[in-house]
Amino acid sequence: MPHTARFTVDPDFRIGEVDPRLYGTFVEHMGRCVYTGIHDPDHPTADAAGFRGDVAELVRELGTPLVRYPGGNFVSGYHWEDGVGPVADRPRRLDLAWRSIETNEVGTNEFLTWARGLGLEPMMAVNLGTRGIDAARALVEYCNHPGGTAWSDLRIKHGVSEPHGVKLWCLGNEMDGPWQTGHKTAVEYGRLAAEAGKAMHQVDPGIELVACGSSNSGMPTFGTWEREVLEQAYDEVDYLSLHAYYEELDGDRASFLASGAHMDAYIRDVVATADHVRSVKRARKRIRLSFDEWNVWYAQRFPGERNLKTAQAPRLIEDTYSVTDAVVVGSLLITLLRNADRVAIACLAQLVNVIAPIRTEPGGAGWRQTIFHPFALTARHARGQVLRTQPAGPLLDTPRHGEVPAVDHVVTHDEETGALTVLAVNRDQEQAQLLEATLRGLPGGYRVAEHLVLADDDQDAVNTQAEPDRVLPRTTDASAVADNVLTVRLPPVSWNLIRLVRASA
Ligand code: AHR
Repeated sequence: MPHTARFTVDPDFRIGEVDPRLYGTFVEHMGRCVYTGIHDPDHPTADAAGFRGDVAELVRELGTPLVRYPGGNFVSGYHWEDGVGPVADRPRRLDLAWRSIETNEVGTNEFLTWARGLGLEPMMAVNLGTRGIDAARALVEYCNHPGGTAWSDLRIKHGVSEPHGVKLWCLGNEMDGPWQTGHKTAVEYGRLAAEAGKAMHQVDPGIELVACGSSNSGMPTFGTWEREVLEQAYDEVDYLSLHAYYEELDGDRASFLASGAHMDAYIRDVVATADHVRSVKRARKRIRLSFDEWNVWYAQRFPGERNLKTAQAPRLIEDTYSVTDAVVVGSLLITLLRNADRVAIACLAQLVNVIAPIRTEPGGAGWRQTIFHPFALTARHARGQVLRTQPAGPLLDTPRHGEVPAVDHVVTHDEETGALTVLAVNRDQEQAQLLEATLRGLPGGYRVAEHLVLADDDQDAVNTQAEPDRVLPRTTDASAVADNVLTVRLPPVSWNLIRLVRASA
């Protein structure tokens, strides 16, 4: 017998507005994300700059409005000057992070032109590993200053007359990680971030800055790192970063399906730490969060940076995602939305090939992985205000996260049209569940415009080049509204999107 998860939807109970930047993604010079991912001059669909047209189409369909670049661990050894100017003159470098050959064929101008062409807001990272204040402020000047200075005139000489106007900047990447080139203590990093940020603001006062939080919540310095970094850099930065990757460990699928519970607790801990520093400093400003790397990543299968052979655009961490992985990704998006009052930015890591929603073959096909679908549909439909709902219903016991709701959900409300989007995941591996939502303070009556479900008898089914549409969301009539109560049947291990519109619409 299915159990019922119940909650009330009331438009007056708002968590916060969905910032479209929650649907960001990430392009790193790693593996085949850039080379043969977004860029493949020999591909039949390539444009004049060598960027794949088929991938551009998929990126548009994914609906991401923001993309982080160029790393990741890569940025901590990157000389951005290597990637500008005539391509033939650019050096081949050893990338220490991924033990790869970086040809620098794609650099700042190519990437930014590609991103802007697709309507994507860039989020650039500066190297605070091997470099520092001077390289960071020079890059901001190169990108954003109109002209008449050495760096901005160099950009103009390189064929880009208008400034790129990059607003969002990451102050390094995962600087707490011992694997990071130029790894630092929190105080060392916090001082450097504050001073680099100050210089970057001196070049362009309009930019926004993201300081590195911990690489993940399991780091031994987690909590202390956030506090010490913010003690140094609070006044200079707007956001603090969080990174989290999830995978099924030791066959414990129940915990994997409940990964959102971990993400939720992680966000709450970082908010508490940031607000602690705010109180001590008597600051008015509240630091918001940039969850700028998150996804499912089967990291246990990765041999580690030190064991990689040096190669050009090697196949690195090209995880193939299953139905279960897509349900987890959908559920992580639900968590991000539920924290929309503090999480302003989030980036699915990464965009193409490297733990990505889009896969390609060099010169060949491009296709959507299973995780593409919940991401694209959430980005398209979960807009407006996130509503606060208080679920009551069945719980599942999980080895890693204790008891979690069997049904994970979030509701968004478009105040202009009145439309509601309900996102719901059934974490139960065997049982269907029922969801019952009472609509309150929503006059006029509602009807189900669409219910899409992603589920499969084979919870391990994947999309491949040979069978790119093996796993797709499908329309179902498993939901209805009667007397202002929405009732939905959620199959086991399923991700669901239910769009409700006014009955008159
Ligand atoms: O996304 C892959 C890597 O994961 C990034 O380079 C790094 O920031 C993180 O550890």
